[in-house]
Amino acid sequence: MRVLFFTLALGSFATALPNHPFKGHEWIPAGPGDRRSPCPGLNVLANHGYLPRSGKNIDLPTVQAAVSAAYNYVPDTFDSAFVQAQDCHLTTTGNFSTFNLDDLAKHGHNCVEFDGSLSRNDLFFGDNLHFDPKIWSTMAKRLDLNKVSHDPKSKYITVEQAAKARAARVADAMKANPNFTASDLEMMGSPGTTALYLTTLWDDTVGGAPKEWVKSFFEWEKLPFARPLKQKTGEDIGNMLTAVLAVKV
Ligand code: HEM
Ligand SMILES: *[C@@H]1O[C@H](CO)[C@@H](O)[C@H](O)[C@H]1NC(C)=O
Ligand SMILES: *[C@@H]1O[C@H](CO)[C@@H](O)[C@H](O)[C@H]1NC(C)=O
Repeated sequence: MRVLFFTLALGSFATALPNHPFKGHEWIPAGPGDRRSPCPGLNVLANHGYLPRSGKNIDLPTVQAAVSAAYNYVPDTFDSAFVQAQDCHLTTTGNFSTFNLDDLAKHGHNCVEFDGSLSRNDLFFGDNLHFDPKIWSTMAKRLDLNKVSHDPKSKYITVEQAAKARAARVADAMKANPNFTASDLEMMGSPGTTALYLTTLWDDTVGGAPKEWVKSFFEWEKLPFARPLKQKTGEDIGNMLTAVLAVKV
């Protein structure tokens, strides 16, 4: 019965969003032995075969091709993020030019992974790598993700809502985690990743991020669209960050 309910739940979700139309890039969640990261953006790419489905030996040209093909970012948009990860000396592949996705969970030294993530718990509580349904439910509530009414506006989250939700999540983490590290990375990482998902999931045709897309990205690590028509850039992310930081929280 359990399996049946799960299948039904999956089935009803799948009808709500189009299946990814590109051959070889179907959504297939990680199997046993496949690596995934604390970053939903990269996990989505691996779940669709834009990054190796194994999550292993990721190099820069592969990231460039993936973010362009799947999200329609200018290929070099994430070069600096890649180099930042390299500079953390977190790779376990034995090749400085590559990392495995789970290498990115390395915590501390003001490097890539930080406390107060939107969908992950803090390392202090044991797991900063996997999607955490309990943490995410606090975000989902603040974003009203499961509240869609007849008002068309209720289908989208606003920058203001996202900015307030991320600040409240950081405040929660500061209260709960006695080892919370309020580093520079933390103070910019939280609004930065919020700007990143808003930019990635922004529907230009309506000027908002559809709640259904946000759920798909975080909860299923699944692409909610085929490919955005308009190319996105680092400048778009920067502008979104400015808008997130401008919200009084
Ligand atoms: C080489 C490229 C990238 C690297 C090295 C990288 C690395 C990371 C890392 C280490 C985290 C964890 C930070 C934390 O503690 O919360 C993270 C989070 C995140 N990343 Fe990425 N990322 C990359 C590309 C992307 C892309 C392309 C997207 C979006 C399309 C994205 C969206 C996000 C989001 C939304 C989070 C926040 C997750 C959360 O707080 O729960 N990233 N990324
Ligand atoms: C390390 O990875 C890079 C990028 O994928 C590749 O070009 C290079 O051949 C690899 N080096 C070794 C020694 O495997
Ligand atoms: C605790 O904080 C220190 C200093 O910020 C950090 O290096 C360490 O990784 C943290 N440990 C945990 C489990 O969060």
